[in-house]
Amino acid sequence: MTMADIVETTGGPEQDRPLYRAAGVTRTYTQKGRIVKALTGVDLQILPGEFVTIQGPTGGGKSTLLQLLGALDTPSTGSLLLDGRELSSASAKELARIRAEEIGFVFQGFNLIPTLTAAENVDMALEPLHLDREERRKRVAAALSHVGLDDRVDHLPTELSGGQQQRVAIARAIVKRPRVLLADEPTGNLDESMRDEILTLLQFLCAEGITIIVVTHDSAVARRATRRLRLTKGVVQDITK
Ligand SMILES: Nc1ncnc2c1ncn2[C@@H]1O[C@H](COP(=O)(O)OP(=O)(O)O)[C@@H](O)[C@H]1O
Ligand SMILES: [Mg+2]
Repeated sequence: MTMADIVETTGGPEQDRPLYRAAGVTRTYTQKGRIVKALTGVDLQILPGEFVTIQGPTGGGKSTLLQLLGALDTPSTGSLLLDGRELSSASAKELARIRAEEIGFVFQGFNLIPTLTAAENVDMALEPLHLDREERRKRVAAALSHVGLDDRVDHLPTELSGGQQQRVAIARAIVKRPRVLLADEPTGNLDESMRDEILTLLQFLCAEGITIIVVTHDSAVARRATRRLRLTKGVVQDITK
């Protein structure tokens, strides 16, 4: 028995418990009668406060794994715990609550609503939380300030650079004060200097205690991680040196 096991069985402090624990996770898709095994047996633990990157070839299952970690989808078989709660058997309602309150998402294409300002885009993430107007206003201002966009709150996405748009998306992800930020190729559409700007921001958020999990093709991104994983043919390998 390891120290971690003892802490867990005795219900030790929350920070010692893995944020995620996956055991034998598979995800199989059926498309036009064909079966695709996207994940074939993922075993994984991620601790609170880690900065994890997931690399690997296209089709290796990276986005599938991120969707499972984000409670957007559930495993076909196996166990996936988020902070001790089993996601694979959770109800749709419970998964929706977890997504709304505990998980921030960032995508390669920013996914901002073009007709809404930066502040309105960020505010959308607070809709499910039923906060009063004043608390919402304060949180939106704080999140945009946190990503360095105090002077861009009323701008539309088209009036912002790519790096600024991705910072709005990160503000939208953190405004709910999530435990974890999941990002699928967040720098894939950015030039090198904007990429570095976003990576520095992610490291800063990690230092503040948000667990960061980033899918990436880019080894410059992986160099910022505290742990590097590689996903090939549906299996995870730890490649941290
Ligand atoms: N919704 C889906 N329906 C059917 N097959 C899918 C679906 N999503 C992904 N796949 C398949 O699962 C495999 C893994 O895909 P994905 O997780 O997107 O990999 P990656 O992000 O590493 O490129 C691929 O073979 C892909 O075609
Ligand atoms: Mg992908």
